[in-house]
Amino acid sequence: MSDEIRSIEDLSLESVATFIRVDFNVPLDDGRVTDDTRIRAALPTIKYAIDQGARVVLASHLGRPKGKVVPSLSLEPVALRVAELLDAGEVRLTDDCIGDGARKVVQDLRDGQVALLENLRFHAGEEANDADFARELKGPCGAYVDDAFGAAHRAHASVSALPGLIEERAAGFLMRRELEVLSRLRNDAPHPYLAVLGGAKVSDKIGVIEALLTKVDALLVGGAMANTFLAARGLDMGKSLCETDKLALARSLMSAATESGVELLLPIDLRTGSSPQESTPEVVGVERVSSDAMALDIGPATERLYRDRLRRAQAIFWNGPMGLFENPAFAEGTLAVARAVADCPGFSVVGGGDSVAAVMQAGLADQYEHVSTGGGASLEYLEGRPLPGVEALKP
Ligand code: 3PG
Repeated sequence: MSDEIRSIEDLSLESVATFIRVDFNVPLDDGRVTDDTRIRAALPTIKYAIDQGARVVLASHLGRPKGKVVPSLSLEPVALRVAELLDAGEVRLTDDCIGDGARKVVQDLRDGQVALLENLRFHAGEEANDADFARELKGPCGAYVDDAFGAAHRAHASVSALPGLIEERAAGFLMRRELEVLSRLRNDAPHPYLAVLGGAKVSDKIGVIEALLTKVDALLVGGAMANTFLAARGLDMGKSLCETDKLALARSLMSAATESGVELLLPIDLRTGSSPQESTPEVVGVERVSSDAMALDIGPATERLYRDRLRRAQAIFWNGPMGLFENPAFAEGTLAVARAVADCPGFSVVGGGDSVAAVMQAGLADQYEHVSTGGGASLEYLEGRPLPGVEALKP
């Protein structure tokens, strides 16, 4: 991590109202948190602040309510889960993240008590990085801690404008760990260094592919984005999801890989179905996708090929599923990669919703060096782009 950025341990927090930006953008179902990984990941920072006698003001976004109050995106279930996990009595949820009510809750906090501000994105000022909104958010807070790595790539008020208003600002433990691990991959990864990229679109990942081609020894591609590369090689992908307007781009990325001496591996077989709802996949070679079929996962021969490469890596970065992970009939390729990366004795890092979900579902998180809480943020960081939420912590 950058030496210029202070750590929470460098701040004096006793009796100080401390704004802790967390990323509690967690999945909910029927008013309950269904995956609390991101909440657990922020606990060390929250507990440390409590132990120091801080008056803890947690703040997060949830979903994309676009500046309007959307009751189903209230942080209420999150406040309950945080209270359970802290085992520290009530975590008071404010009725709004700014205004008199929120100010009063914060002013009434005693040392070691915790409040959670209601969803930041209920106000348009958050995504607009509005300075007045940031001033209101600050309220009586005298210290600022950012532990929301997952939101660090957004130039939003709570991570960008707000820290500039508070002299006593620092990174939390989660933010520090994310930056340490990812900066190792960016600047100093041991070799062979392999990247596994999946997901729907090549166009979403152009920047990171270009950046990775200057660092990795091999790039293993899966998911629907592999269809675009395969089509660019002249293969007929039937009804598969494919960016037909990006074939030239895919060809130029393949040429760039060859020029850089990076092996770009594509699937050699696929699991196909007649629709995304298919329950009985058919395994076919990549040159045998029928005109009415969709490629929905990598096939078993590709799993073996990728496993063999991953086993010998010293460093791995993985982002994105190998297939339509949400349909169990097409989750096998992603789970196979999750196991193969876990078996690699090297430095293995995974980021991104479905790929992290696969690691969790397979119970493999302990075998990873790091499971990143930031999908988009980790990609932008590895791409070499400055993250607004990190820049704002600098002096
Ligand atoms: C995430 O879930 O990746 C982060 O919380 C950022 O959310 P966003 O993509 O809605 O900005």
